[in-house]
Amino acid sequence: MAVDIPRCLADSEQDVTLRNGVSVRVRAIRPDDEPRLMALCRRLSPRTVYQRFFSVRRLLPEEAHAYANVDYRHRMALVAEVGGDRGPELIGVARYGPSDDGATADIGLVVADDWQRLGLGSLLLEEILRAGEQRGVHEFSADVLTENYRVLRLLARRTAITRRTVASGVTSVLFGRRADTALEVTRHGTSWAPARKSNPWKPRPEAPMP
Ligand SMILES: CC(C)(COP(=O)(O)OP(=O)(O)OC[C@H]1O[C@@H](n2cnc3c(N)ncnc32)[C@H](O)[C@@H]1OP(=O)(O)O)[C@@H](O)C(=O)NCCC(=O)NCCS
Repeated sequence: MAVDIPRCLADSEQDVTLRNGVSVRVRAIRPDDEPRLMALCRRLSPRTVYQRFFSVRRLLPEEAHAYANVDYRHRMALVAEVGGDRGPELIGVARYGPSDDGATADIGLVVADDWQRLGLGSLLLEEILRAGEQRGVHEFSADVLTENYRVLRLLARRTAITRRTVASGVTSVLFGRRADTALEVTRHGTSWAPARKSNPWKPRPEAPMP
């Protein structure tokens, strides 16, 4: 079944400048992102794949299809995109969807290895929580490998955690959005402002692509 992308989402996006000076576009996911999601997953290191999916494997086409086709309400996803040699490529994804018991919105987050530590993960987390709130979703959850200190620290610093439980090496965290998070990225224009006409993919001259 075709998914209607709300016009306000399809046409809305924001450009942000990461800590390395490179401009990245953050926008709602679209059905045509399916091959770009597959390509992103192929580029991830085994460690990053393991931390995201709890096993080292490739994304199946049917999974990419499901991930790229959301209803923009109960299931929502944002992507971060830059210009690659063969057109736009995805470097990060944040999503939420109903948890198994339906009580919370489960968060999934990944940033391509070469783009980590530049503030993108924090930005995507903040933006997906904000998108959720705008749709009346206030309670989020995430299952994280207990050894994945990076994400656990990220959640502790950037969200309001209400519960944390540990079982079989997996830490389950319940949290809400924190209104006071300050991000170290530069937004161009208003959040979710209409796309700018200028080429957002071009890195600044002093900032080589990683
Ligand atoms: C978690 C993840 C999304 C963070 O993305 P990111 O773009 O690196 O995030 P940021 O640059 O905003 O950094 C977030 C924090 O992690 C720290 N960090 C990031 N990469 C790090 C690394 N390689 N080593 C140590 N710390 C690191 C940053 O210093 C920052 O901490 P701070 O807020 O105290 O400064 C990314 O590491 C990732 O994709 N991990 C694999 C997938 C995963 O674990 N997903 C979570 C389960 S759904």
